[in-house]
Amino acid sequence: MSLPLPRIPDPSEAPPLNWGVLAPGGIAATMVEALQRYTRQRVVAVGSRSAGRADAFAQRFGIERAHGSYEALVADPAVDAVYIASPHSHHRDHALLAIAAGKHVLVEKAFTRNAAEAGEVVDAARSAGVACVEAMWTRFLPTTDIVRRLLADGALGEVETVTADHGQWFAVDPTSRLFAPDLAGGALLDLGIYPVSYASFVLGERASVTARGSLTDLGVDRQVAAVLTHGSGAHALVSTTLAARTPTVAAISGSRARIELDGPFYTPGVVRLVTCDGDVTESEPPAIQGHLGLCFEASHLAQLVADGATESPLLPLEETVSIMETLDEIRAQVGVRYPGE
Ligand SMILES: NC(=O)c1ccc[n+]([C@@H]2O[C@H](COP(=O)([O-])OP(=O)(O)OC[C@H]3O[C@@H](n4cnc5c(N)ncnc54)[C@H](OP(=O)(O)O)[C@@H]3O)[C@@H](O)[C@H]2O)c1
Repeated sequence: MSLPLPRIPDPSEAPPLNWGVLAPGGIAATMVEALQRYTRQRVVAVGSRSAGRADAFAQRFGIERAHGSYEALVADPAVDAVYIASPHSHHRDHALLAIAAGKHVLVEKAFTRNAAEAGEVVDAARSAGVACVEAMWTRFLPTTDIVRRLLADGALGEVETVTADHGQWFAVDPTSRLFAPDLAGGALLDLGIYPVSYASFVLGERASVTARGSLTDLGVDRQVAAVLTHGSGAHALVSTTLAARTPTVAAISGSRARIELDGPFYTPGVVRLVTCDGDVTESEPPAIQGHLGLCFEASHLAQLVADGATESPLLPLEETVSIMETLDEIRAQVGVRYPGE
């Protein structure tokens, strides 16, 4: 038996858009590398709060235009779409800035700090008629499409349980965005969103949430575990931590078979189908590996724009908002509130 093939097009097939990168930090560098290596997307501009950092990033990647402010970036007529790669705390404002300038937006996860902010961005994008996609890159990977097809084909029987974890060890650093309350730090919005989003992908909107967690001295979540229940009776067990490197694996278990995704489950990888009889089938290893898989979400947005669409069927904006509602509820139960919320 072989597994279904992914239907995700090669990222080089998407017609090119002119991209501007807003906030040239760690993930922005990986995104530009992925785009330059695997797509025809053109990164034409970068904007930083500092002209020096914009120049350095532009030089590193051979980007034509460097702007010393985000306002100048979004006003650049050469830019069609903006990749928002600032901390979670600023996604709402930066997405609204780009949308007001008429640009399409690919907004890093977590889409915003909370569901109310997510709703504002969605409303603004719809009013402006620009494409808007949450950069939850896992959702756009070929690996995920194999899982999507297996679920649609009923290969697992009744899906009952999803388990997924995402923990990384970080030295405590109050100045890092991961630990700073004013930058919407904490494990959940940075790492825990992967298991929560994966549960939503498999099981749909949750009916209830029960969460427990512990906080850092500065009051962001250090560790969180949650049970999400669904109308079908299925449940998801998700956990996240900033204090330990966990296996980062996921499993989807049904009455006839289960799917196993080795760690890190949220990156391009192999899908393993294990039947109740113990038969094991695996997909081929993906051609594009690791974080270079970021190119798929950007090429997806470019294809949407070429097709005259503004929202992704793979991750609808309603689902983005609903995932933020789940994160809001988990944060409320563990006692995390960001300054200014
Ligand atoms: N998809 C993934 O696999 C993945 C992986 C890592 C991170 N992310 C997401 O990407 C986003 C950025 O993460 P990152 O790890 O790239 O962060 P980072 O390395 O700290 O970069 C963030 C950038 O945001 C800008 N910025 C704007 N306002 C800021 C403020 N008040 N404080 C600090 N920086 C500010 C800075 O650039 P300038 O000052 O130069 O403008 C900074 O370089 C987050 O939403 C994160 O969850 C996604």
